[in-house]
Amino acid sequence: MLSQEHNDTLTQVGPGTPMGGLLRRYWYPVATAQDLEDFPVKRVRLLGEDLVVWKQPDGAYGIIQERCPHRHASFAYGVVEANGIRCGYHGWLFDRDGSCLDQPPEPEGSNFKDKVSAFAGRVEELGGLLFAYIGPDPAPQLPRYDGFVMEGVRDIGHATLPCSWLQIMENAVDPHHVEWLHGRYFQFLGQQQGFTAPAAFQKRHIKTAFDAFDHGIVKRRILEGQSEDSDDWRIGHPLVFPYQMWVGGNGIYQMQIRVPIDDTTTWFILYTVHRPEGVPTPTQDGPMVSYEFPFRDESTGHHIVDFIEGQDIMAWVTQGPITDRTAEHLGKSDVGILMLRRMFKENIAVVEDGGDPLGTVREPHDVIELPLERDKFGAGYEFATQFIERGSMRYSPQAEQLKQLHIDAAVERGELAREEVGS
Ligand code: FES
Ligand SMILES: [Fe+2]
Repeated sequence: MLSQEHNDTLTQVGPGTPMGGLLRRYWYPVATAQDLEDFPVKRVRLLGEDLVVWKQPDGAYGIIQERCPHRHASFAYGVVEANGIRCGYHGWLFDRDGSCLDQPPEPEGSNFKDKVSAFAGRVEELGGLLFAYIGPDPAPQLPRYDGFVMEGVRDIGHATLPCSWLQIMENAVDPHHVEWLHGRYFQFLGQQQGFTAPAAFQKRHIKTAFDAFDHGIVKRRILEGQSEDSDDWRIGHPLVFPYQMWVGGNGIYQMQIRVPIDDTTTWFILYTVHRPEGVPTPTQDGPMVSYEFPFRDESTGHHIVDFIEGQDIMAWVTQGPITDRTAEHLGKSDVGILMLRRMFKENIAVVEDGGDPLGTVREPHDVIELPLERDKFGAGYEFATQFIERGSMRYSPQAEQLKQLHIDAAVERGELAREEVGS
């Protein structure tokens, strides 16, 4: 149970707040690269700030406060030029540093433009996502986590959720929810609605552990029937501080990204790379697939809960926009959540003391490898196919091809007989 003040500290992300100060030390996806191919200007919101991102003809990206310093029209309706963005209202031109380069209606020879500037951040493309940094200089490196740079077929599903990002991060250190929400509840729903829920998620947790490391917290578990030799225990997978989780197994590599748009809105992105063993590494044919997936039935407003992430989203959203942590009852099995809250508190203090918080990368690098179990839940290739059939990837335009990729690889590995798949 937390005090109201502590809950506010952990959940307020806007400018000038302690958590906002910590979170502004990291890069966040704000759009896909494809978004700016479709139209070179896009309004975005990050950490409670309204911003506009644009792509210049030379390929460079900029990000600037949404409101023009002149009389506050939105740059979302601006004109992209070779060296910046020009406000659509009276033509003031700003470059990627936020300097004002031109004010056409002002008298010739005026130096008024030198007295005006806009807030500007930085944008870099990585793995088909546009990451923005809106914190203080010097900006750290954009961490090149393996999922963003590895070969394979990519699939980007996303949804904008009406709840605090912190609820979603606390779920990343809450292993027990798997056997209940994705196990027992899923099974119950299947019995009611006539489908078979994935059995791998129904196994009981025998033991869990959490270890702090350079990029967050590694979560490990032993499920019934497993020993300490299992990947789930030996390797586990990490919460990537402060807003991601790296998860997968059996040829699936997924970065779950939870971008704090503001205190009560989160952009949830499932950035998945498919790369099953047993077949040559598949390559991306054509543009990367990205799509928004539904999580509520539009006619009833009821959560869609017959898929894994839909169940998670139900839990996060029904906890409330900002869950009331002054009235919660944490038990011993919630130790990971306490560890995460402590980690946030400590890193807020690090930033306030002028230091670099956990996971800051200052050195240029090719890749940062994160731990990830390969044999997930001892489920074999079915982990991958069920994760597609009964996960948000069922909404992907390439769901069938992805499933086939994993089935073909399982056949090649000898895990599955060709006759069993009927082809
Ligand atoms: S409001 Fe932007 S130029 Fe006038
Ligand atoms: Fe979950």
